[in-house]
Amino acid sequence: MEKKSITSRAHCLVLAFPGQGHINPMLQFSKLLERQGVRITLVTTRFYSKNLQNVPPSIALETISDGFDEVGPQEAGSPKAYIDRLCQVGSETFHELLEKLGKSRNHVDCVIYDSFFPWALDVTKRFGILGASYLTQNMTVNNIYYHVHLGTLQAPLKEHEISLPKLPKLQHEDMPSFFFTYEEDPSMLDFFVVQFSNIDKADWILCNTYYELDKEIVDWIMEIWPKFRSIGPNIPSLFLDKRYENDQDYGVTEFKRDECIEWLDDKPKGSVVYVSFGSIATFGDEQMEELACCLKESLGYFLWVVRASEETKLPKGFEKKTKKGLVVTWCSQLKVLAHEAIGCFVTHCGWNSTLETLCLGVPIIAIPFWSDQSTNAKLMADVWKIGIRAPIDDNKVVRREALKHCIREIMENEKGKEMKSNAIRWKTLAVKAVSDDECHALVRRHHVGPASIRNW
Ligand code: UDX
Repeated sequence: MEKKSITSRAHCLVLAFPGQGHINPMLQFSKLLERQGVRITLVTTRFYSKNLQNVPPSIALETISDGFDEVGPQEAGSPKAYIDRLCQVGSETFHELLEKLGKSRNHVDCVIYDSFFPWALDVTKRFGILGASYLTQNMTVNNIYYHVHLGTLQAPLKEHEISLPKLPKLQHEDMPSFFFTYEEDPSMLDFFVVQFSNIDKADWILCNTYYELDKEIVDWIMEIWPKFRSIGPNIPSLFLDKRYENDQDYGVTEFKRDECIEWLDDKPKGSVVYVSFGSIATFGDEQMEELACCLKESLGYFLWVVRASEETKLPKGFEKKTKKGLVVTWCSQLKVLAHEAIGCFVTHCGWNSTLETLCLGVPIIAIPFWSDQSTNAKLMADVWKIGIRAPIDDNKVVRREALKHCIREIMENEKGKEMKSNAIRWKTLAVKAVSDDECHALVRRHHVGPASIRNW
């Protein structure tokens, strides 16, 4: 198919998986494309679309059905039932959407689909449209699942230590959680592996990472997938190169943002521990109690995001606003991480949180929960060297004393200073990755970023 020139306003349809960790980077990438003159239609599920706020008015919105429009995914009863229905109803309604847009002369030139929806490429190709797979997880994790797809790595794991091309040696505790739940329920690992079933038919394979972070894997994967592009970090400009004044947040935001910033404003530089575990992780009562006691008994300040659905797990009598601590149900994480009062981030290591902290130069204490998070924790501790993984006991709980020790290591010791300076180095490289000059250089070296869309 002929490539459309930028002057004729190419139309990209961006199909995002219904989740904060997917909408955030894909919407951010959409805004980047828009600035290059591309017209964008953002698509997600009907149920999830009710959560969307602050999508720029210039971006059109459409929806598909996952089969659970009214009550949401929990109606499915199990992840497998949800995935199966999503694939069936999602591909039917996506087909209908492309047909509708075609008939209304709102023709789509390119579909950028979340790699969790490999069926979207099959639908896209029926219409003869260009298709780009967008990988929202990091390249090490993608590499692991790709090897399961190739048959060179099996679940359940046989080896004690896993060796894969261009990756550090991985212990079991570093692997995605679905290897360990496989025998009981193979559906989750299958879901992640199926991303690669038809990826060689995609016109581009995009990943929210930046070259310097993953250069060995990127150089290696480019030999296999010449159409691979590292397009990240897809973070609002205010937190990177500051080129676009009004690019201050992802599209989905919630309340109580300013309360956090006001509270942080009078705290000394580097004195606050920020604690947040993304939009999905849920901890048991015991872990919540250990966390709460650690924060209360530690000497320093803390800002803790406890989602509304988790609040009942806070120990009885735990005060949500004191001189030393603030508990909120949500915050603008980027604004918080960028605040100079923040000294370290206690995180589950979701890929977006990890990438955001790399871009903002904040050291990490990792308490991974599931999925890719253990692998991200391994990379941040042993490859990028910007933090430590909190040790767990035999019940898989991080105890208060262990966490207090980690906080002291980062906030008070030499080791913490080294991690901070490593984090600042990654921040500098992230800014370079999206800066104009660097982008032009990277275009030649297989990077798609600002000003390079014409080279697709
Ligand atoms: C999910 C998976 O759990 C994760 O492992 C995968 O890598 C991506 O998809 P989630 O658990 O929500 O994501 O974590 P993360 O990837 O860190 O994304 C959370 C997003 O919500 C981040 O962009 C973060 O900035 C934002 N956030 C989180 C807020 O803006 N405010 C908050 O209070 C908490």
